[in-house]
Amino acid sequence: MNQLNESTPQPNPFLPEPARIVRLYDLTEDVRFFQIRLAEMDKALSFTNRPGQFAMISVLGAGEAPFSISSTPSRPGLLEFCIRKAGVLTNALFNLKENDLIGLRGPYGNGFPIEKMIGKDILIVVGGLGAAPLRSVLLYCLDNRDQFGRVSVLYGAKRPAEMIFREEYLSLMKREDLECHLSVDKDETGEWTQNVGVVTTLFPKLSKVDPQNTVALVCGPPVMYKFVIKEFVKLNIPKDQILMTLERRMKCGVGKCGHCAIDYIYTCLDGPVFTYWDVLHMRELI
Ligand SMILES: Cc1cc2nc3c(=O)[nH]c(=O)nc-3n(C[C@H](O)[C@H](O)[C@H](O)COP(=O)(O)OP(=O)(O)OC[C@H]3O[C@@H](n4cnc5c(N)ncnc54)[C@H](O)[C@@H]3O)c2cc1C
Ligand code: FES
Repeated sequence: MNQLNESTPQPNPFLPEPARIVRLYDLTEDVRFFQIRLAEMDKALSFTNRPGQFAMISVLGAGEAPFSISSTPSRPGLLEFCIRKAGVLTNALFNLKENDLIGLRGPYGNGFPIEKMIGKDILIVVGGLGAAPLRSVLLYCLDNRDQFGRVSVLYGAKRPAEMIFREEYLSLMKREDLECHLSVDKDETGEWTQNVGVVTTLFPKLSKVDPQNTVALVCGPPVMYKFVIKEFVKLNIPKDQILMTLERRMKCGVGKCGHCAIDYIYTCLDGPVFTYWDVLHMRELI
């Protein structure tokens, strides 16, 4: 018999799995929290991802786009996303209700190198919607607290009302096994009790950093990277221990279409997490 006939068909990498919206609520005026479960329970329970990976989410008739998985793999079964209303697909997502079905495929991308981070101090710097992918790694560190050294978070948002998971972070500040500092660029409410200023103004508040033993993570709006990386470099954190998650326009998410390519790098496969070392050796990455 022809050997080709015997080969089992390869699974279609573009086939989304049906997933149900379990819970949704607004995080800010234009960012909504979506808690999702794959419709087939065995698939929901066996779904594994690494913090920093993303999934492709689709709505019938509206399209598909990549979104960072914001939940931690240490709490399996449910997947969480923070989604900003931006265009056709996200508007369609905002029209959905709890119990509605969407499509989901993934997880994709490299994610954070957790194995290399074990035993190290973790310094997380978040700006705006960067809270989506970094929440996954922060919750992972907190769920596996004994595997990491000191864990510190610096989180900046434009205004208090735009700080995603504001209440969650305010209560995290009370934990003794975590150093957490919050800042807003502007406060018109007069009720904000934390720092006012861009996120880099939080660096002087950090307790002493042991640079060789620190892995520093940053995600936020493009303008933020240059300034935050400057602070990491001032602290003498090695370039290959500075990790950033970057966004590029993506279509397939699986290295087939070339939409996300920069030189010979496909950001959907080789990213979205890069080291500062990678960035220095690649044009146009940030
Ligand atoms: C790895 C990764 C992770 C992401 N994670 C998140 C997340 O956690 N949360 C989240 O909210 N978003 C996330 N995004 C961004 C999200 O995928 C996009 O905002 C997506 O395009 C929204 O789809 P849409 O159809 O609603 O908007 P679109 O119709 O795609 O429009 C979105 C915006 O992009 C502009 N735009 C459209 N086409 C182009 C183009 N060709 N070139 C330049 N600009 C264009 C539009 O004018 C609009 O302002 C992520 C992106 C990547 C790559
Ligand atoms: S998004 Fe298609 S190759 Fe990366």
